Amino acid sequence: MTESLGIRFLVVDDEESIRRLCTTVAGSLGFTCMEAVNGHAALALLEDQPAHIILTDLVMPQMSGIEFLDKVRKMLPRAEVAVMTGHSSVETAVQAMKLGAYDYIAKPFSAVEELRLFLRRMAEKVQLVEENEFLRECTYAETELHGIVGASPTIQEVLRMIARLKDTRTPVLITGESGTGKELVARAVHFRGTFANRPFVAVDCGSLVPTLIESELFGHEKGAFTGAVRSKMGLFQSADGGTVFLDEIGELPQEMQAKLLRFLQEKEVRPVGSNNKFKVDVRVIAATNRDLESAYRAGQFRKDLYFRLNVVTIHMPALRERLSDIPMLTHWFLDRYANGTDAQVTANAMKCLLAYDWPGNVRELENCIERAIALGDGKTIDVRDLPSAIISASPTVETSAMPIEGMLLSNDLEDIERATILRVFEQVNGDKVVAGKMLGISRATLYRKLKRYNIGPRPSLSASQGMN
Ligand SMILES: Nc1ncnc2c1ncn2[C@@H]1O[C@H](COP(=O)(O)OP(=O)(O)OP(=O)(O)O)[C@@H](O)[C@H]1O
Ligand SMILES: [Mg+2]
Repeated sequence: MTESLGIRFLVVDDEESIRRLCTTVAGSLGFTCMEAVNGHAALALLEDQPAHIILTDLVMPQMSGIEFLDKVRKMLPRAEVAVMTGHSSVETAVQAMKLGAYDYIAKPFSAVEELRLFLRRMAEKVQLVEENEFLRECTYAETELHGIVGASPTIQEVLRMIARLKDTRTPVLITGESGTGKELVARAVHFRGTFANRPFVAVDCGSLVPTLIESELFGHEKGAFTGAVRSKMGLFQSADGGTVFLDEIGELPQEMQAKLLRFLQEKEVRPVGSNNKFKVDVRVIAATNRDLESAYRAGQFRKDLYFRLNVVTIHMPALRERLSDIPMLTHWFLDRYANGTDAQVTANAMKCLLAYDWPGNVRELENCIERAIALGDGKTIDVRDLPSAIISASPTVETSAMPIEGMLLSNDLEDIERATILRVFEQVNGDKVVAGKMLGISRATLYRKLKRYNIGPRPSLSASQGMN
């Protein structure tokens, strides 16, 4: 029964004949077998070699089966434990089941076949649980890796673009400042689409050693240059059928830009030192935090390559251009870093986060939350848990312990909303159309809120004078 391979089995009984019978049967099912004469010995053994399936006697000297079961459940919550019982102790067996034992089997075993079936069913249960766990982890990793958080109109537009592009082979250029989520989006385009089961190969064009870039991308033959002791496949070839993500494309040296262009036109690679060409089918996603358009105008980047890469552009907005996403992102990172505890952010701390400029964008916010969780009490993030650069960006906050998550007081919400609108409004010099777009609310709603929070073109104006 090969599917049971990898299952570790432990029998705990003071009677040698029982242990021998059990390990023989379990061994015939492909389990790896261990045995112990009493509860203490078993626990010591399990410390080093955790078991998936444990069969224990109920009546044993020193430590009873019930006590052992209780300890094992704490030590290995996922192990399946069954008890063996003489006819006289069925009641104890029932008690054991209440404590979480898988089942019980009566001793002496009426037939070896009965024991065999019993162990086999336990193994199936273990495998089922493991499979479920594995599947759950996969789904979790998928959202973890490609979860793009944000309700602002610009992020919603990015999500729509991803949905349109994911099943195509169209080249995509992703632009945006550092930390805005360019790689996250590149991965989403690949992993959400039809080609998700094909390779995704990320290449940081900025960190490749210039002399080795060509061989990294296209591969080389044995002896092509000093040190090329064996031939090596290039990154393009290893991504065949999938996606190559060319990060920091603006850093690619001129000479390589020409070679990359040729590859994109011909869809063939010629490894360094080789006379052969190989057909390669890859989708190219490039990213840059430089302004490539002005780079090609200044002659630093090839215009023809720029146009070939830039069939579709996704621009990632800076975080300060979409402040309304800060609360949502903050809670996303709280969930990620607070280890399942319901961590919260005080209203004043949130005001600081909204007043700051975020030159490092989402990455900086992520680091800030991770750090605040690690340095603070791990439950509530207050102003004092934030880096001083962020605190000093906010003119008027005092430390308070009022959490904003959970029981949100309407005053806090209003404070945060007011701070967000004020911030955006200042940023766009009072342009209501742009402000409305950045906040993701209609013009009418914006007008209503400006009036309500007494925000006008000049802060000194009163509500009645300030509007319209
Ligand atoms: N919208 C978002 N939702 C959730 N997490 C995000 C979002 N945007 C960025 N992140 C996270 O911020 C971090 C930085 O993102 P990423 O590496 O994709 O940025 P980048 O634009 O490639 O930065 P750089 O230019 O510095 O390489 C990552 O941990 C990413 O998961
Ligand atoms: Mg990046």
